[in-house]
Amino acid sequence: MPPVINPNNELNFSGGPGALPSSVLQQVQEAIVSVPEVGLSILGISHRSDWFAAVVQELETNIRTLLGLGDDYHVLLLQGGATQQFSMVPMTLLHGRNQPAEYLHTGYWSGKVLGEARREGPIRTLWSGEAEGYRRLPTDEELDFSADAPYLHYVSNETVEGIQFHRVLGHDHVPRVCDMSSDFLSKPCEADRFSLIYAHAQKNIGPAGVTVVLIRDELLQNVPEDLPGFLDYRSHIKAHSNFNTPPVFAIYVVLLVTRWLLNEIGGLERMDEINRQKAQLLYGFLDRSDGFYRGRAATADRSLMNVAFNLATPELEQRFFAEALAAGIFGLSGHRAIGGVRASLYNGLTLRAVEQLVGFMADFQQRHQA
Ligand SMILES: Cc1ncc(COP(=O)(O)O)c(C=O)c1O
Repeated sequence: MPPVINPNNELNFSGGPGALPSSVLQQVQEAIVSVPEVGLSILGISHRSDWFAAVVQELETNIRTLLGLGDDYHVLLLQGGATQQFSMVPMTLLHGRNQPAEYLHTGYWSGKVLGEARREGPIRTLWSGEAEGYRRLPTDEELDFSADAPYLHYVSNETVEGIQFHRVLGHDHVPRVCDMSSDFLSKPCEADRFSLIYAHAQKNIGPAGVTVVLIRDELLQNVPEDLPGFLDYRSHIKAHSNFNTPPVFAIYVVLLVTRWLLNEIGGLERMDEINRQKAQLLYGFLDRSDGFYRGRAATADRSLMNVAFNLATPELEQRFFAEALAAGIFGLSGHRAIGGVRASLYNGLTLRAVEQLVGFMADFQQRHQA
């Protein structure tokens, strides 16, 4: 493993923006001063340069290679975060339709999606976990998918609550649209079973500022003609993700992460194995803690990316955060919507970091167990 530039980076359990691989950070450090093959700072290279066109091209190719995507998909690098996709999807696919699109309400982020979709057209909430505090996901028996919905939308990993679908949902002939912001490129995902996937970069693949959208060409057959150019996927396809000034820096970092996934990790299956080892280590420890640490999620739906848990009292949790920080462990406080503790184990976070976290937690338990 390459040396860690700043040891604090290794123990960054933040929910996002999150930890990035240290070999990527080293290249970024160099690129801030000068990208080797250009001789200019990455912060001052034109988005109209041949170099940047090649960056976009290589990044598209890398994403296609990692996911095994065919030519029937467009790979777009957009701005506006995942939040802009909450609107762009229904603006494109729902506007003027009478038949409702189907949405799942499985947590904080899929709740935000609903509000935006309703502005654009009719939707049906197929299932909601709200009454149960979003601690579990629905089983197939609980999901009565309609066979002729314009599309089905769900969030593959609920970042706040730490619950993740471990299967693909829905009918094969109803277009699947998925927000994969917090588990994209953390594992193979059967991408060709989805019509549209969107994922912002700042969890597993880079800094904030760029959102990857994979869209099947056939989905764009009936796009409303009066969409603003910036909100029309076709403008970005035509412009090769260079419709207006794109975030050159963020896109370059995502390219470096995809090179790391391909060349250092060895692909998404291997990334998945590593991510599973990290999650098993932490969940296994929670399960053996005699209730000192209490996992939030139903066991079958536990997220490999975001491990959410509580301690006996809010006071003990505050103490936990303070002592973690003093031990150089960052980013453990849960999302403001639900509080508690959340350890995010994105691609860039090492197994060694989880081992250190577990060591700290065992010691904390020993000192604070009544
Ligand atoms: C699953 C998911 N979707 C959407 C969002 C919102 O993303 P953005 O801030 O890029 O709009 C988040 C933010 O963390 C998220 O975790």
